[in-house]
Amino acid sequence: MEKLVVIGSGVVGQATGKGFIAMGHEVVFCDINPETLAKLGSQGHKVCPPELLEQEQGIKAFFLPISTPTVDGKIQLGFLKGAVANLGMGALKKNNDYCIVVVRSTVPPNTTEGSLIPLLEKYSGKKAGKDFGVCMNPEFLREGRALEDFINPDRIVIGEYDKRSGDRLAELYSGFNAPIIRTNIKTAEMIKYASNAFLATKISFVNEIGNLCKKLGIDVYDVTNAMGLDKRIAPHFLQAGVGFGGSCFRKDVEALTHKSKSVNNEARVLSAVLDVNALQPMKIIDMLGQKLGDFNKKRVAILGLAFKDNTDDVRDSPSISIIRNLVDQGADIVCYDPKAENNMKKLFPQIAYAESAVDAIKNADACLVLTAWKEFGKLKDQDFDSMRQRIIIEGRRVLDRTKVRDFEGVCW
Ligand SMILES: NC(=O)c1ccc[n+]([C@@H]2O[C@H](COP(=O)([O-])OP(=O)(O)OC[C@H]3O[C@@H](n4cnc5c(N)ncnc54)[C@H](O)[C@@H]3O)[C@@H](O)[C@H]2O)c1
Repeated sequence: MEKLVVIGSGVVGQATGKGFIAMGHEVVFCDINPETLAKLGSQGHKVCPPELLEQEQGIKAFFLPISTPTVDGKIQLGFLKGAVANLGMGALKKNNDYCIVVVRSTVPPNTTEGSLIPLLEKYSGKKAGKDFGVCMNPEFLREGRALEDFINPDRIVIGEYDKRSGDRLAELYSGFNAPIIRTNIKTAEMIKYASNAFLATKISFVNEIGNLCKKLGIDVYDVTNAMGLDKRIAPHFLQAGVGFGGSCFRKDVEALTHKSKSVNNEARVLSAVLDVNALQPMKIIDMLGQKLGDFNKKRVAILGLAFKDNTDDVRDSPSISIIRNLVDQGADIVCYDPKAENNMKKLFPQIAYAESAVDAIKNADACLVLTAWKEFGKLKDQDFDSMRQRIIIEGRRVLDRTKVRDFEGVCW
């Protein structure tokens, strides 16, 4: 059992910490946000604010899954650099034994070696490779299934500063049943970006095919179901709909595009992936306009606010741009989401939130389905009988055609 510290206890931090606890290690969760630590409680682990971290001794590894947002396409490393500087001048400096610092944030190639290691050395007065080790260990989990994915990964990527650093991290992962890829740090950074960019590309690709199929009267799901049986293609991320959201895909594709430009290399496919995705939510608005005409004072029920099912996360959710557009055009919105209501209320306090999908639909002139929550698949035809006009547009292919008739898919 080793003592590990997770600095940044958000989605990735909690999965990392809880995962290592499940593997028998002792974990201290650290976060700059006291609310996050309060919510974590202290059962089975310790919590610690950054200013007290230096009091912890005997630490074998510090994991850093800190937010790395983009602004105007450029990655903002301020949070991560702040945490690294704090670690350097505090716990790393005071820790007497050899330990490793593990970057878990998604960062562009050359960030760890170009910016973070120099900061660690400057603030700790110690030398990487001699006094402490460094690894870049990207995370590939899916939100909503974070802990499950951490414990059962497809692969573990260890970007190592030197062999000793990599050996220490590989030891911590030795109980996991997954191939461990050991490489240099910038390759590990690139593996994460290339993986996310590929998944985002798959989604924008299939949405483009879906938009074309719609015009040609073809069901894109008949096409993708057959495509997915080809092992070279695989069925995942072939679900056409209103586009991708979440905290990672747009930001990572933007950051990679930006990085690419900075070395005089135009990333044309990646730019197109973002363009297709930005336009996709508007397809549902266009369809609604054709069916409903003017939106003014029309009551529109929105089923699903989270960017995907099993999470309360609304970051970059397509529902945001759709609601904003409808509100601007004078529609009355009634939403329902089993988990994400509170987060959406911070963005749209003025719209109505229903207690259930059935309540949201009542008296609506139109209904848009925007998240693939399983419970929407249980809705029956009669549940929609209370609508003022029966206009149902599906953005996620979750309604069950055997239970509900007369609805249209956004691109099928
Ligand atoms: N969310 C995902 O599905 C996912 C998957 C893989 C990789 N990632 C990457 O992992 C990183 C973290 O993502 P996340 O979704 O967990 O973010 P998050 O916003 O949920 O969590 C980040 C945490 O870091 C904390 N923090 C910020 N500055 C700090 C500091 N100086 N000291 C201590 N804590 C600090 C924040 O308070 C927050 O709790 C990002 O780079 C992201 O791109 C995310």
